[in-house]
Amino acid sequence: MIVLGIETSCDETAVSVSKNYKILHSEVSTQTIHRKFGGVVPEIASREHEKLLNDMVDYTLNKIKISRLEIEGIAVTQGPGLAGTLITGVCFAKGLAQGLNCKIIGVNHLEAHIFANFLADPKLEYPFVCLLVSGGHTQIWFVEGLNNYKLMGETRDDAAGEAFDKGARILGLGYPGGPEIEKLSKTGDEKSISFPRALMKNKNLEFSFSGLKTSLLYYVDNQKSILKSDVAASYQAAIIDALITKLKWAMDKTNCKSCVIAGGVASNQVLRKYVKQTMKNKKVIFPEISLCTDNAAMIAYLGELYLQKGISSKIDFPVLPNMKLI
Ligand code: KG4
Ligand code: ZN
Repeated sequence: MIVLGIETSCDETAVSVSKNYKILHSEVSTQTIHRKFGGVVPEIASREHEKLLNDMVDYTLNKIKISRLEIEGIAVTQGPGLAGTLITGVCFAKGLAQGLNCKIIGVNHLEAHIFANFLADPKLEYPFVCLLVSGGHTQIWFVEGLNNYKLMGETRDDAAGEAFDKGARILGLGYPGGPEIEKLSKTGDEKSISFPRALMKNKNLEFSFSGLKTSLLYYVDNQKSILKSDVAASYQAAIIDALITKLKWAMDKTNCKSCVIAGGVASNQVLRKYVKQTMKNKKVIFPEISLCTDNAAMIAYLGELYLQKGISSKIDFPVLPNMKLI
């Protein structure tokens, strides 16, 4: 089955085609226009998606020599995300689906992040534990099958990606903050400052990063001079320490053989290294970087899984900016 995937939940415009669960092409355009504002401006993001989508679909289809008429289904991000950017993608997808008279399915962006791990390893078996770490979410899922998920823990306040972004802002670095902090950390000493790790008792699987952010703010305000690389490395270590500790507790609790990580923060090399080290006797999977950050390959793939099962959406389905996984 040939499925066109469309992703516009935030500031990445992305188009991809999946055919029989293989990604034929994945095109991502990251909107750099937001950098000067230090964060995503929703209205600008929606307009950028609108400008780009049609040409990106043509480009993608030309590249893999598939005509629009061969598309059998369209998968589009329904939520969670920014209302305006979701509407742009969903309206575009609906118009195309009606014009082509093909099926359409609204896909949950978080679920798609989890399923990107099947693109990394098609032999991945259920059940597995997924640490989902993106700009808006930090959750641990026990995944027993398609549409069979149990939430084991999540953040009480900021998401891990948000902690990276806010920390970078405090340190005067660019947006998005994760890659900036990771880059600067390479030359820093992660043990130089002891930042707090929250909720680290009694195998608690919840996260909290807002205290860490405040502690960084106080630290920066109170020091006469700081070595930014040391601060960045210590701050990153505090986030990653919490993520790894809780992932390990979740693995112990479920006695699962496999764990996967998903979402933009999963592209962090230090996190990847420590997950591997900590879970030595387990199967550990993480998608390649381009499949961790927002992309449409994961949307096309998950859409194809549902469409092949005969599950699709009605043409009048709404966008759900706060869409939950369960
Ligand atoms: O999944 P994603 O691309 O978008 C959302 O669905 O939110 O995640 C974006 C988040 C941002 O907060 C960004 O700072 C973070 O992922 N991120 C990273 C890295 N690359 C992206 N965080 C830490 N290290 C990275 N290398
Ligand atoms: Zn995402």
